[in-house]
Amino acid sequence: MNTPEFIDLPEVLSAGGSVRLPGSKSISNRVLLLSALAAGDTEVRDLLESDDTERMREALSALGVDMHSLGNNAWLIKGVGGTFPNKQADLFLGNAGTAFRSLTAVLALSGGTYAVSGVPRMHERPIGDLVDALRQLGADIGYVGSEGFPPLTIRPATIRSGGVVRVRGDVSSQFLTGVLMALPLTGVETTVEVVGELISKPYIEITLAMMARFGVQVRRDGWQRFIVPAGSVYRSPGTIYVEGDASSASYFLALGAIGGGPLRVEGVGETSVQGDVRFADALAQMGARISMGPNWIEAGAPVNGRLRGIDLDCNHIPDAAMTLATTALFADGVTTLRNIASWRVKETDRIAAMATELRNLGAKVDEGADLLRIEPPASFVAPHAGIDTYDDHRIAMCFSLAACGVPVRINDPGCVAKTFPEYFARFAEVTRAVPVIAIDGPSASGKGTIAARVAAELGWHYLDSGAIYRLTALAAQRAGVAWDDEPALARIAAELDVEFGEDSIRLSGEEVGDAIRLEEISIGASRVAALPSVRQALLFRQRLFRRAPGLVADGRDMASVVFPDAQTKIFLTASVEVRAQRRYKQLIDKGIAANIAPLLLDLRERDLRDSQRSVAPLQQSEGAHLLDTTELTIAQTVAQVLEWSRQA
Ligand code: DC
Repeated sequence: MNTPEFIDLPEVLSAGGSVRLPGSKSISNRVLLLSALAAGDTEVRDLLESDDTERMREALSALGVDMHSLGNNAWLIKGVGGTFPNKQADLFLGNAGTAFRSLTAVLALSGGTYAVSGVPRMHERPIGDLVDALRQLGADIGYVGSEGFPPLTIRPATIRSGGVVRVRGDVSSQFLTGVLMALPLTGVETTVEVVGELISKPYIEITLAMMARFGVQVRRDGWQRFIVPAGSVYRSPGTIYVEGDASSASYFLALGAIGGGPLRVEGVGETSVQGDVRFADALAQMGARISMGPNWIEAGAPVNGRLRGIDLDCNHIPDAAMTLATTALFADGVTTLRNIASWRVKETDRIAAMATELRNLGAKVDEGADLLRIEPPASFVAPHAGIDTYDDHRIAMCFSLAACGVPVRINDPGCVAKTFPEYFARFAEVTRAVPVIAIDGPSASGKGTIAARVAAELGWHYLDSGAIYRLTALAAQRAGVAWDDEPALARIAAELDVEFGEDSIRLSGEEVGDAIRLEEISIGASRVAALPSVRQALLFRQRLFRRAPGLVADGRDMASVVFPDAQTKIFLTASVEVRAQRRYKQLIDKGIAANIAPLLLDLRERDLRDSQRSVAPLQQSEGAHLLDTTELTIAQTVAQVLEWSRQA
């Protein structure tokens, strides 16, 4: 499958509706592992189908666990009732932390020879505290590369029965989760003592709740001591439903709070075992309207106006707290997120990544060892190079919220497949983008005049996309770059320093409104417009014109390429003779000498070049209204466009 390099999100006017959440990643991977270890078959419903759960399923299959899909996100897993049948396996777990840590613990007590590895980033994520804990039980685990980090080799060992195991809890709660889930394999009572402050406590709640569903009751003494009783064995609960993902819910709840709402997420609610549902409380503290049922949560904008910044200890919602960082862009005042040190050892260093990208949008950000302080921008900046996502699904999803303030380009959007492959499709369904009227047509068809008048009537913005190609041709001419030097032209297009005013167009500060209309530049524009990398370089620049309350855009590929989701699409044309007449009159009116015959010839040539080029040729796109203005006045044409836009 080809993964796109970026996705461009248009500015969002409002958000509302409802979203059915995909299954929770945390629950899915725990349930998969426990179903595999349990005695009896388990039918798992609503399992998350994503990269991380696929890594877990692949690993379990390689370990000899029999499972098959029942369709509709349901799986039947035949429990092995003890340790894995395959005593030798080489497992690749990608960047799935939940799978890596818990499987390592279980394999260490399974009496086999195993190699466990992941992607390069996984090999930078610490695991030493888990290995140290397992070694206390007698496990034989070795580091293949750096001490304290994957990949690992695991060998059969004599496991010491019972007693006390000490596990550090202040780097990742997944170490404690791993040890707890593995201990029933020993069959004897073992006490686990947590060293240091336990972070991400809600994930331990999930672990204990899932173990209980599979028949193992862990006794506990606060967050300090956990006792796995003698004779603990996992037994299938028969059928188990996976809750919706509460961390994934956070993006939509924030969208509702920023974009008006009400926006409802279905699949989690007040009875959820996932701590991340408490993200809703943080949003409420920011002023959002929140309501909750057993299996749903709804968010809307504050009753009286805007969200406000908060100062919050985020230990209880480590993943969902990332969403607060981008929600803070839309709040009055400063937002401070504390106790988030664990962000540094996740898919990427999330504190650093967040700070960089928030600053790229114009926010002022202070970054501490375990905190982030965000002051929203007075006005948004849209980075032309896009928002980088660091192979981190949550960074990609968090920054989609920026579209509530400015059009944004998200690089490598495919990384959301880790937990939410359908994220951007759901996002589009619950957001209303700034509307566009796209008007395409040949040279001198009157597009410019019509589009500018329609924009003025509606009070919308206007994009003359031809001017952007003309500016590129002019800038190239001034830089001494030939109109067929594609790489140099693409660079010029990407770096074009233009400013569109009410009645002015400035190139590097100089007024060029007339210069770009010269016939010579028309020819240059048509040439440079035929080059794919020039068009690519100008794509996002054009999309940035789509700002509230709306945009009227004219050109050749507005409906087909630049704004394929435009609400109203129009193909405006007129006979070539009438167009030559109009151009002739325009020139004479400006006091420029002109002849009809060469104008006619030139238009014919340009029509041919614009419509026969291989990239984005001029064409009437599907769904576009054909409007032939040969016999129409300007007023009649404008009225027709407005009528179609009202019907859209
Ligand atoms: O609309 P115009 O005459 O100002 O356009 C100048 C050139 O730019 C024209 O030859 C076609 C090209 N163009 C394009 O290829 N795509 C657009 N969206 C707009 C213009």
